[in-house]
Amino acid sequence: MKRREFIRKGAVAGVGTYAATKLGIPKLGAARQKAASGPVVLSTWDFGLRANEVSWKLLSAGSNSLDAVEQGIWVVENDPAITSIGYGGLPDETMKVTLDAAIMDWRMNCGSVGCIEGIKNPISVARKIMERTKHVMLSGSGAHDFAVAHGFKPEDLLTDESRKTWLNWKENMSDRDDWVGPHDMDDLTDNHDTIGLLAIDKKGRISGGTSTSGMAWKIHGRVGDSPIIGVGLYVDGKVGAAASTGVGEANMRIVGSFLVVESMKNGQTPQEACETAIRRAIEVHSKQIKADKQFQLAYIALSRTGEAGGAAIRKGFQYAMYKDGINKLYDAKYLYTQ
Ligand code: GLY
Repeated sequence: MKRREFIRKGAVAGVGTYAATKLGIPKLGAARQKAASGPVVLSTWDFGLRANEVSWKLLSAGSNSLDAVEQGIWVVENDPAITSIGYGGLPDETMKVTLDAAIMDWRMNCGSVGCIEGIKNPISVARKIMERTKHVMLSGSGAHDFAVAHGFKPEDLLTDESRKTWLNWKENMSDRDDWVGPHDMDDLTDNHDTIGLLAIDKKGRISGGTSTSGMAWKIHGRVGDSPIIGVGLYVDGKVGAAASTGVGEANMRIVGSFLVVESMKNGQTPQEACETAIRRAIEVHSKQIKADKQFQLAYIALSRTGEAGGAAIRKGFQYAMYKDGINKLYDAKYLYTQ
């Protein structure tokens, strides 16, 4: 038995089934036993609409959901106008562009990359780690060397635009950085617009991925939530998938994407499950949320039956869904109203 097969069988089939029957976890409703009949793509933010187009086309032609996730995410990684992901992503405080990404499929196979430099498509490095190593996550220079060994071309990801934006930050605002004193833990926010993309293929198989350049002006070496399995992304082929965007540090404290999928496993709809995680985040971070109007965290979730949901701390988060031939942007429900 292959290692990943073993992990899957042990962790999911064995423990999951046993737990559901012996520990009184409610069984999935009849609707959730049935896989979605056609392709569905769900992704974060308005740029998700363009990513969805590519994923949908692949899925309609019969591709599996893993390819659809990877290639949908390429659209935003390759676009220099999107300053929070891939090429053109805003750099850290030392003017280096460092990227995070993760990918996971319906069989519990997963791979991720943290703080990689000079590689435009970290989602594909994450996939390569999943498919060509016994590890789940590589980071920094080791991840870069691994990518080069697999034929990825190193390139400068800093655009002229993002260099000028960095310079402006350095000249005018760099005293407001991410270093904090021992009594100042409230200042943790900035720009965190991650692409999270979840897809179901014609065979009902669900996969997900995330990709981001993380927080602009972050301390060099910082890794966000996006590449951490269970935090920025989680997929359970028998239940559904979830992904996040927003303040990664807040999401790490509540292991949000796992919480969303586990809540679905315990009977909640994707919408209810996203709200469960957002309520938890608000409980844990009430002081920071009150002090900082930019403090945002959001989730999207897709059940294996093709039901979708999305929720955020604050107003403003949108997600894109391609379903039944229609690609549409939705305003997510927000739970913090003070
Ligand atoms: N959610 C992306 C980040 O905080 O890096």
